[in-house]
Amino acid sequence: MEIKSNSFGYTKSDEEVIKYTLYNDNNSSISILNYGGIITSIMVPDKNGNIENVVLGFDSIKDYEEKSPYFGSLVGRVAGRVSNASFKIDSSTYNLAANNNSNSLHGGIKGFDKVIWNVTEIVEKDTVSISLNYLSKDGEEGYPGNLDVNVTYSFNNNNELEIHYNAKTDKKTVVNMTNHSYFNLSGNGKRDILEQYLQINADSYCPVDKEIMPIEISDVKNTPFDFSQIKLVGQDIKIDDVQLQIVGGGYDHPFILNDKENIAAIMHDKESGRYMEVVTDQKALVFYACNQLDSGIELSSNIISKKHIALCLETQYYPDAINQEFFESKFLCPNETYKAYTKFSFKVK
Ligand code: BGC
Repeated sequence: MEIKSNSFGYTKSDEEVIKYTLYNDNNSSISILNYGGIITSIMVPDKNGNIENVVLGFDSIKDYEEKSPYFGSLVGRVAGRVSNASFKIDSSTYNLAANNNSNSLHGGIKGFDKVIWNVTEIVEKDTVSISLNYLSKDGEEGYPGNLDVNVTYSFNNNNELEIHYNAKTDKKTVVNMTNHSYFNLSGNGKRDILEQYLQINADSYCPVDKEIMPIEISDVKNTPFDFSQIKLVGQDIKIDDVQLQIVGGGYDHPFILNDKENIAAIMHDKESGRYMEVVTDQKALVFYACNQLDSGIELSSNIISKKHIALCLETQYYPDAINQEFFESKFLCPNETYKAYTKFSFKVK
């Protein structure tokens, strides 16, 4: 078990970016930046023991600052879209920057994905971890309360990546964090995700409007959104369905996770044998199939970006819960702790 750190260059505002690589005893590794808590690579074996990268990333901080659609980032304070970039807590209205049509997306203009986090390294017998800390000031990006945020990434000898989120506030506020990794289990992006398998343990999902805001809760049965049995991501993606078309031809929807299942999702690339299980204590998972990704951008591990080159499984509390009456709003009050947990296990099958 070992952590290596090295400079990843400087941001435009001249802050040094450090890359931490967490190695387990099987030579698998995960690299993470202090900038945005970004996971830049996850190197895990296929069925023949070949260790390759299963996420999208860039090789330079400049690319992350200029081009990244949240590759591998920590997203907050509020992941997803806050409708009309505004919300109310008790009698106060809070206005956010509208950075996605009329809505606020992924924490605003300078969200948690674009700040430098303080990092502490922890090496134990079977686990390597880094703990990231950031103080988001009262009023930052329009959100109330000084929010002290802690995220721990741990990697162990079973090739399990665990993410623990924790936050405390001094004023009533909203928090809903996620990690925005783009997975492709073929290894170094050899095949797109239409040829990979996915299961999501959700009997319902949210259809969305043209601004990708949830409009209601609906049954997945007899729709292309039924991933309750494992199926190819590409199996139903071309079906003539208004919900697939409205988000740019594919999936970009919140799924409501079934309470009874422990595993939220499974992804499988049969050719390489790589198999990923997602376990979470969160209520929802946004499945984004990279419908909007620009083509032709050079990424790390010699991957060239294109539509459906990867997929995101963003575990989180219900999106825009603070504004949607079909979801229960959830606040964080002083003397409470926000806690969230997600585990990504990398196996072969
Ligand atoms: C959103 C997409 C968006 C992507 C990159 C996802 O979480 O749901 O609509 O294009 O992030 O910003």
